[in-house]
Amino acid sequence: MGDNTGLSQDFLQSVSGKRVLVRSDLNVPLDGTKITDDGRIRASVPTIKALADTGARVVVTAHLGRPKGAPEERYSLRPVAARLGELLGQDVAFATDTVGDSARETVAALEDGQVAVLENVRFNPGETSKDEAERAEFADQLAGLADAFVSDGFGVVHRKQASVYDVAQRLPHAMGGLVAKELDVMRRLTNEPERPYVVVLGGSKVSDKLGVIANLMQQADTLLIGGGMVFTFLKAQGHDVGKSLLEEDQVEVCRDYLSRAEESGVRIVLPTDIVVDTEFPSGDREPEPRVVPADAIPADALGLDIGPESARAFAEAVAGARTVFWNGPMGVFETPAFAEGTRVVAEALTKVDGLSVVGGGDSAAAVRTLGFDEGAFGHISTGGGASLEFLEGKELPGIAVLQD
Ligand code: 3PG
Ligand code: MG
Repeated sequence: MGDNTGLSQDFLQSVSGKRVLVRSDLNVPLDGTKITDDGRIRASVPTIKALADTGARVVVTAHLGRPKGAPEERYSLRPVAARLGELLGQDVAFATDTVGDSARETVAALEDGQVAVLENVRFNPGETSKDEAERAEFADQLAGLADAFVSDGFGVVHRKQASVYDVAQRLPHAMGGLVAKELDVMRRLTNEPERPYVVVLGGSKVSDKLGVIANLMQQADTLLIGGGMVFTFLKAQGHDVGKSLLEEDQVEVCRDYLSRAEESGVRIVLPTDIVVDTEFPSGDREPEPRVVPADAIPADALGLDIGPESARAFAEAVAGARTVFWNGPMGVFETPAFAEGTRVVAEALTKVDGLSVVGGGDSAAAVRTLGFDEGAFGHISTGGGASLEFLEGKELPGIAVLQD
């Protein structure tokens, strides 16, 4: 392949002069209209560029955030389209709707090698509808804008949505290079990974991670758990967690996992110390971080990061691994007072002699926000939920549909 686009020469030739709809994942964090981490846009460039360079008329469809099927200015893709243009080094047209007059006119005006971005595909209720007929109707409209489809939004391949799934049934289609690259790494994680295989899980909600934890207990050697979800585990061990984030209805499940881990031979490691404060960080108050033992979180405090002793232990386990997958920050890394756990774990990943994978929007944004060189990691995935569902062993609809 050499060109690193994943698309075959045959496919590229077949779409020269044609309209190609590309589903990218351009769901980037914004501060107002300012993009705070453009990683996903940069990751989407090679496929779009390869298509444009071959003379295709490229129509990019993507989502931003979770609007409820209607336009909302704060979720507009306009700033994203502008950034894509800068990165491509060419003008990128922008349609102010998804499949309406503006989309049709914008696509009709494209010349060979030009690129357009359609407005947030989730502004149309058909995109995420559970009603097959409603999704189909929208997919028909999307498909009507193009002659071929390229699936390149790895971060959304776990979603059975019109622009990811249904549209692929309506047009000649191909897998984009980003999806191909991401799948390749995911397969290396699941297909006889080099051992020790260490997984670090963080993030706020344990309920999002139950499936993957259950599956990883069969595969990984060590599971390190941090982030907001840790408090449900600590509670399951019988500790008070003060005002920390807690999912009461998951305490039993966590208790079950902890006891099953002992039997299945996986080591589940929880932090032994926690950085707490009396309030969640907010702009108008200087944080007052304190380190307390994980089994003695005061009633008036909430945990916001793993403590230094835990961070050292996690780093040691990571550094000794041959395969590492990390998803979810260890604490509220956006606030420097609570970023240390995440920083230490990220640092350890850069030292792994083997395959180190950072999975997920938040962890990927964290390593860049904390100033790490992306090249120091084996792979930084653009997919959070998608990579977790892959590791969970689930079929990804957006991948399966390409195989038909
Ligand atoms: C993500 O941010 O993980 C992807 O862009 C998917 O977004 P979603 O979880 O809103 O479907
Ligand atoms: Mg097919």
